[in-house]
Amino acid sequence: MVIHGIATFKQWLEQKHFTKIVVIGDANGFAHCLPHVHQVGIIEGLWLEVGVGEKHKELETCSWLWQQLMEKEVDRSALIINLGGGVVTDLGGFVASTYKRGVSFVNVPTTLLGMVDAAIGHKTGINFGEAKNQVGTMSAPLAVVIDPIFLASLPNMELLSGLGELIKYGLIADAPLFHALGSIEMGKDQTVIARCIDIKMAITKEDPNEKGVRRMLNYGHSVGHALEAHAYHLGQPIPHGVAVAWGMVAEAHLSEKLAGFADTDLVWNKINHLFPIPEILYQADLARAIGSYLTQDKKNSSGLIQSALLYKIGQGKIGFNIEKEDFSSSVSWLQQRLLA
Ligand SMILES: NC(=O)c1ccc[n+]([C@@H]2O[C@H](COP(=O)([O-])OP(=O)(O)OC[C@H]3O[C@@H](n4cnc5c(N)ncnc54)[C@H](O)[C@@H]3O)[C@@H](O)[C@H]2O)c1
Repeated sequence: MVIHGIATFKQWLEQKHFTKIVVIGDANGFAHCLPHVHQVGIIEGLWLEVGVGEKHKELETCSWLWQQLMEKEVDRSALIINLGGGVVTDLGGFVASTYKRGVSFVNVPTTLLGMVDAAIGHKTGINFGEAKNQVGTMSAPLAVVIDPIFLASLPNMELLSGLGELIKYGLIADAPLFHALGSIEMGKDQTVIARCIDIKMAITKEDPNEKGVRRMLNYGHSVGHALEAHAYHLGQPIPHGVAVAWGMVAEAHLSEKLAGFADTDLVWNKINHLFPIPEILYQADLARAIGSYLTQDKKNSSGLIQSALLYKIGQGKIGFNIEKEDFSSSVSWLQQRLLA
């Protein structure tokens, strides 16, 4: 269930009877978003602040949160509100869905990526060891609260990160949306955000367990995740959606080779116009490095990576089993194009 606006969320909360309200957030979320939350006078409860960033989406933070919930005698009839970006909604959703075998939670995404992707679709999780999102649950929040007011304080690079996902929705499901997206500012547009949420919700409703059409949402993510992981390990992290944006260009080239896609130039032009070029895209042995990350890809089965490609702008296609070498060569192609 999507609730539009924190004022409406307040009315929704007033009709419920939770024993306690717990709010999980990070320092940025609390600093920038709490004033908006307080303005509508929603919440009195227990506030739990976790560290900022991906490195805190891990077991130690969960242990601390579970400990806090136990010490404060939070019971199964409480509500956990995850107020923050994808790190907070993934982590808080995981903690909520496992504490006492599951307490109710609501996601209040405060980043664009959170609004159009991370906070919806029922995936919760944490990183484990070197691998991202290895431990988690499929658990539905009671509601997701969308309010673009939170985006006012979001740094441009984080807006761009969300924009990468918006462009993906256009590419796989809505050609007019793809063509319309021409500036970072459009990422704050309520109609655009609502349209992307509709696309993700329709796809996840049709295929909640990611056995079929939901795989379309992974377009651009095989190369994107590998780029993101590689950059992270080199100590030059790039935002998720920026890695996905360049991943989508490489996979557009692959779509041309394997699915008859004819508009690689349109994808290239859009991404090149809107996104910065991460330094690692110029690294000499990048294609080989990306290949080795793809071996660990969750979609890898018997050496082949189950992927979605583009048939045309606005129409993705699932069901491709692709050799990791094909992905590596699409990365080499991308590098040559950048240097041309
Ligand atoms: N569950 C899913 O289906 C799913 C899908 C996509 C991504 N994810 C996960 O989402 C995470 C990335 O999410 P993200 O990009 O939102 O990152 P994030 O949660 O780290 O937020 C990005 C930065 O913005 C700050 N921030 C948050 N809201 C703010 C605001 N309103 N104003 C100012 N600063 C603010 C955060 O403190 C952080 O520094 C990754 O862990 C990824 O694995 C999950």
